[in-house]
Amino acid sequence: MSKPIYLFAFSALFISACSSEPKEETEVVVETQKYAIPIHSFAQPNKAAVTHLNLDILVDFDSKAISGSATYDVVVNAGENRIVFDTRNLSIKEVTIDGMITKNWWLGPLKEFMGVPLEIEVTDNTKQVSIEYSTTEGAEALQWLNPQQTAGKEHPFLFTQSQAILARTWIPCQDSPGIRYTYEATVKVPNDLMALMSATNPTKIDSSGKYNFEMKQPIPSYLMALTVGDLRFAPIGDETGVYAEPSVLESAAYEFADMQKMLEAAEALYGKYAWERYDVIVLPPSFPFGGMENPRLTFATPTILAGDRSLTALVAHELAHSWSGNLVTNSTWNDFWLNEGFTVYFERRIMEDVYDKDYANMLAILGWQDLQHTLEEFADVPNDTKLKLDLDNRDPDDGMSDIAYEKGYFLLRTLEENVGREKFDVFLKEHFTGNAFKTMTTEQFLVNLKEQLLDGSEEKYAELKVKQWVYEPGIPSNVVAVESPLFAQVEAQLDSFLATGNPAVIDTAKWTTHQWLHFLRNMPEEVSVENLAAIDNTFGFTKTGNSEIAAEWYVLSIENNYAPANQAIKDFLIRVGRRKFLTPIYGALIKADPSKESAKAIYAKARPNYHSVSTNTLDAMLDI
Ligand code: BES
Ligand code: ZN
Repeated sequence: MSKPIYLFAFSALFISACSSEPKEETEVVVETQKYAIPIHSFAQPNKAAVTHLNLDILVDFDSKAISGSATYDVVVNAGENRIVFDTRNLSIKEVTIDGMITKNWWLGPLKEFMGVPLEIEVTDNTKQVSIEYSTTEGAEALQWLNPQQTAGKEHPFLFTQSQAILARTWIPCQDSPGIRYTYEATVKVPNDLMALMSATNPTKIDSSGKYNFEMKQPIPSYLMALTVGDLRFAPIGDETGVYAEPSVLESAAYEFADMQKMLEAAEALYGKYAWERYDVIVLPPSFPFGGMENPRLTFATPTILAGDRSLTALVAHELAHSWSGNLVTNSTWNDFWLNEGFTVYFERRIMEDVYDKDYANMLAILGWQDLQHTLEEFADVPNDTKLKLDLDNRDPDDGMSDIAYEKGYFLLRTLEENVGREKFDVFLKEHFTGNAFKTMTTEQFLVNLKEQLLDGSEEKYAELKVKQWVYEPGIPSNVVAVESPLFAQVEAQLDSFLATGNPAVIDTAKWTTHQWLHFLRNMPEEVSVENLAAIDNTFGFTKTGNSEIAAEWYVLSIENNYAPANQAIKDFLIRVGRRKFLTPIYGALIKADPSKESAKAIYAKARPNYHSVSTNTLDAMLDI
């Protein structure tokens, strides 16, 4: 990847894929709008934007703070005299411009969830801006774990979570997905720990505690990532490997054995992998997401270590983001479905190629069930069921629901089945290669869709109800139906169990995790405690080590007052901080006891283990 183009020099020639302006304007506009207007950032990149970051930081576990400097190469447009950064709960110490300390900088007023703009006076000759800073207790991106909260119990641990707008809580940055930059970093950590970033990474602990990183491809700030802990590396394929704490490494390497195959399947579908290496780090269980697509190094929850490789679609998902999201990036968080819907589609195509179509279709049907659930839940906020969101003046986290993922997936699958896979794949490959390292708006994508996939046909475009899919609530009638013979078997067995109450009558010998999930999800709303006890005793749900099955079972148990699961539920909630599991389980607890007392009693013990992403959601649910 070459250096970013300096926009003042090339502005008349350069129009990005993200501009929604009509094409004719290219000739007449002097300062072409290179960047989409940020929505959740104070930055004004069309006046002054960053192109490269040199980060030099110290990670101090005693004070639980990161401190150091963020030095940016910047481009300031002719006549402009300000550059604006995002900060939130950062302590800014000093600002230097081209090596000279300046006093001409200001912190603006605090705006809820957005933070505080840092405005720095510059000239249009300014080349470099350096900000010395430290994080504070309010750094929501960071989770500092004490040794007790790790697998090894001996060393502390730190990880970051920057998406959607938390990067600004640990680095002053222009925190909009439409603004990309390359970076290098020097990170000092305690001598016995390893540091890893979304960049070139070490494979061994360096006893100096000093690590250097480089990210040569330009990325948006939501992909800035750092983790520090007692970590080891195990290779999987030539370009793939896994990091984990020593006691977790072997099971992680076993679980992700097919990673290299996934990478090869992905490349065969939509073009060469742009980031050189693909590794996964398995974090402690408090990680609030299943996975996060930090470039070169996916961050993953240990709850996908099922022991039988059955939950690795998550790896395919995060890997797929190397194209959908990291290479072609949603222009703003209103276009989030372009990141996630494409990624779910791509994930299922990878799973189909590495395993088979039946596998991918089970995932699609489970996704469809999630989608129906979300549509019901959002009945009174129909606008949030549009693909194109309106998150102005809202926390982008509010818009991050299954709609982007599963409605997005079903739109793409519907398109695929209408135009044919061959044609759809040519279109998608061109989407990724033609827009590499650029941002994409929903509007630009729809133009490309009509022109390239539908040969400019207005009729086809209307017939496929594309606008309705994107700009209207709910699911249009032309959605494709997905069928699964493997799930049909489950439904038949479930019927015979419900008719007899006898688990011995059902044949589950070859069932996979996804079939078990379908079994549990298709239980009637009310199940007798006797029936629950019967299946629990026969199939061992309460003591399962499979987190997806466990989470499903716990909700069912709470809804039906099945007390033998209570202790396991409590232990799970205290150990695991993955929000996707926590919200339905706490939700069921609240429904069963609307005083919220039993939920609050568990939460009081569990909360110290959770990342702010999870506590923000749960505090609201539990009126904390
Ligand atoms: N990028 C997301 C996680 C995310 C989304 C973080 C929005 C912050 C804001 C990641 O790729 C993701 O989708 N993770 C899913 C896993 C997946 C298999 C659907 C998760 O964490 O559950
Ligand atoms: Zn994702």
